[in-house]
Amino acid sequence: MTDDTSPWTAVGRSRNPRVFLDLVGPAIRGFLLERGKSNEVTTVTTRNDARFSWTYDRDREDLSKLYEAAKRAQWNASTELDWSIEVDPHNPERMLLPDEILPLAEVPEYRGLSEREQFVHRWALTAWMLSQFLHGEQGALFAACQVTEAIAWVDGKLYASTQVVDEGRHVEVFHRYLAGKLEKLYTIDDNLYTVIDALMGDGRWDLKFLGMQIMIEGLALGAFGALRQATREPLLRELLKFVIADEARHVTFGVMALRDYYAQLPERERQEREDWAYEITVLMRNRFLAHEFYDEYYGHVMSRQRWDRLVLSSEFMRRFRHTMFRRLIPNLRKINLLTDRVRRHYDAIGLLVYERDRAATDLSAAEIIADSEPPAA
Ligand SMILES: [Fe+2]
Ligand SMILES: [Fe+2]
Repeated sequence: MTDDTSPWTAVGRSRNPRVFLDLVGPAIRGFLLERGKSNEVTTVTTRNDARFSWTYDRDREDLSKLYEAAKRAQWNASTELDWSIEVDPHNPERMLLPDEILPLAEVPEYRGLSEREQFVHRWALTAWMLSQFLHGEQGALFAACQVTEAIAWVDGKLYASTQVVDEGRHVEVFHRYLAGKLEKLYTIDDNLYTVIDALMGDGRWDLKFLGMQIMIEGLALGAFGALRQATREPLLRELLKFVIADEARHVTFGVMALRDYYAQLPERERQEREDWAYEITVLMRNRFLAHEFYDEYYGHVMSRQRWDRLVLSSEFMRRFRHTMFRRLIPNLRKINLLTDRVRRHYDAIGLLVYERDRAATDLSAAEIIADSEPPAA
């Protein structure tokens, strides 16, 4: 596969006609109609079943344990974080994000800017990235609500209720940081909108889990870690530490819920999930092109094609993909969606190398946080 990022090839790479039909509507709404950008409010039609249990059987011990852990780990973003910290995007001592973690260093037009202008571009690109996290968190909040009603096990519903609170808090902190500290908010990226639209509107509960808990959250966990490792801004570092601890639990929830379910699913239905996951992987892989930032700062100096080429071939993209996918791919293996049938597809886009890495669920929250510490000087 090439690094073609045009919307016309956004879905359909798995050549599974059923999966194509599932995703073509969200892709049209995401890429062509730009539903996530055209209005201040977007309505997505949903159609999942809400399952009531009148016996309240508490028979999933693993989920029950996770529920207890989630209750112990609750935190209040208003009091645990020091919001009095002043964030100055021009302070080199507390650099928001250094060039190494942004694709700008390899853009000749950026290198030709004054130091002050470079600070402005780095600040805007940081705001773009955090804006996408914020939009993803809003999607996670709604997906957690859907999962709470749709999942069959009572232990799962109780756990999911804690995730609703967690995701609400994540929306709170990212928005507060963007609005109060960076004072800039970007619209949602088309790839991300397409994924959120696809999983919100699908009636099958497991696809919400797969799309949100395993894929979006799995990638976010990697991205948050990379960001935390790179930033020198203390409030952002602290905020990400708290969010990472929550997200680690959410990914574990997804794996626990899907592992057994996919093991007993009829082969054709399992294959459909496998292809769906591959399509979402491709969408997520193309997500960090920052087109909204490009439109504002580079749209008048170079073509979008050239921008895409520069970003995709940059060292930043290589590193970012590494941190994001090295935790996600092992999770797909764990839930039985990385069989020989699709391994070659992942190989063709350079992601199969991560299949033997440790899955996020094999690591404790403390290990995942330690992994996001900057390397010792
Ligand atoms: Fe979250
Ligand atoms: Fe989450």
